Amino acid sequence: MSNPRKVHVKSFGCQMNVYDSHRMADALAPAGYTETTHIAEADLVILNTCNIREKAVDKVYSEIGRVREFKEAAAAQGREMLIAVAGCVAQAEGEEITKRASAVDLVVGSQNYHRLPGMIARLRKDERIVDTEFPVEDKFDALTPPSRAAIAKRGVTSFVTVQEGCDKFCTFCVVPYTRGAEISRPVMKIVGDVERLAAAGVREVTLIGQNVNAYHGDGEDGRAATLGRLLRRLAQVPGIVRLRYTTSHPLDMNDDLIEAHCDLPALMPSIHLPVQSGSDRVLAAMNRKHTRQQYLDVIARLRAIRPDIAFTSDFIVGFPGETEAEFHDTLSLVEEVGYGGAYSFVYSPRPGTPAADMADQVPAAESHERLLRLQSLITAQWRGFNASFVGKTAEVLLEKPGRLPGQLVGKTPYLQTVQVMARPELIGTVLAVKITGTGTNTLFGDGAERTAYAPVLAAAGA
Ligand code: SAH
Ligand code: SF4
Ligand code: F3S
Repeated sequence: MSNPRKVHVKSFGCQMNVYDSHRMADALAPAGYTETTHIAEADLVILNTCNIREKAVDKVYSEIGRVREFKEAAAAQGREMLIAVAGCVAQAEGEEITKRASAVDLVVGSQNYHRLPGMIARLRKDERIVDTEFPVEDKFDALTPPSRAAIAKRGVTSFVTVQEGCDKFCTFCVVPYTRGAEISRPVMKIVGDVERLAAAGVREVTLIGQNVNAYHGDGEDGRAATLGRLLRRLAQVPGIVRLRYTTSHPLDMNDDLIEAHCDLPALMPSIHLPVQSGSDRVLAAMNRKHTRQQYLDVIARLRAIRPDIAFTSDFIVGFPGETEAEFHDTLSLVEEVGYGGAYSFVYSPRPGTPAADMADQVPAAESHERLLRLQSLITAQWRGFNASFVGKTAEVLLEKPGRLPGQLVGKTPYLQTVQVMARPELIGTVLAVKITGTGTNTLFGDGAERTAYAPVLAAAGA
């Protein structure tokens, strides 16, 4: 191992962006880099960027300005600090970034960060490097697996990318351009990753992909496997007690996946199923390729086999041409479905996407006002959902110590945070916790010690 250095990685985007940040840190470990949470002491700062809305991009440039001050302070002490911009803005803007922000030494796209160690070595010779091509080799094959220590440090839950890229081309979205065409990783590669995670103490795995339910990776028998089949295989990995997947597209919710929700106790009854709008006219203009009714039918099919499934979603308000009546269709859809929570955004025109050139862009003030109305409805549903747990028992996967002494924090099957007094050695186990009350963002629980159980872990010998 070469001389020790420190890397600070900061994520600005979705779960895949967070996952990529971990993988970049893993890739740099053999070159002697350890992770640090303090920018000031870093030899390399990686900003892992998101391009989804204009605001996300603005954040990157203000952050580069902030890191530049640390870089200058380091230089004043005779120490070199490199700044790398990675992720979806890097992929979309490439060289533009080094032109606009001269403090940036390296721009690395979302498909070639496995080349980071080589690029950093080359930096010593070249002045600046921009690499945003879509390479022929598979970055997952080239990446260094995380060490046991790195996995343990990240906790008992983990993301695993199983599918990447998108061929759907919704008219508002940059992802097909920043992440490229859809690819699925082979089943056995994913099984290997999950076995490694489980052996190091991970108990919950969330399979991620931009269209994760379009997954069609090579199966163990050489035929393409569905996400349902992949989940069935992963449920057999000793030590894994919870499985989730995100983000799914309503069009790809096939029977096999729906049945997996019936058959697999480890598959959590919480599904993020973005719909964006409740208006058929807007859905068509967005190129979502399904109607309001088709979306409702998917939800009904899932609820028929697992009535306890809770849905979350994403919404965009102020899409070009959206009328007040069409916005009302979104509100009525939210009423009809009844969500456990949802994200909502004002439409942000993205350069190079078809919707950015559409007529009738909705005035910002109007969109903002719609956003507030939608958010108050969603917040009311979310609060009601949380309140419905008070007095009931929830299974909580304990993840880490809480803020108070003797307290642990964990998650319900619906990803609600629960605070409960419990012994630290119970981290990584699932406890039946009586929910006693709700706070702003958490549930409070009681009685965990008396009802503790961890059947799957015991079976796995963990
Ligand atoms: N693949 C997922 C979404 C990924 S992007 C899907 O198909 O649903 C996450 C969310 O960001 C989207 O669901 C959408 O609600 C929001 N989003 C994407 N592009 C946007 C834009 N141009 N303006 C505002 N919100 C956007
Ligand atoms: Fe973007 Fe649509 Fe693809 Fe989701 S399905 S990543 S919203 S283009
Ligand atoms: Fe953002 Fe790229 Fe994820 S644009 S939402 S970081 S796929």
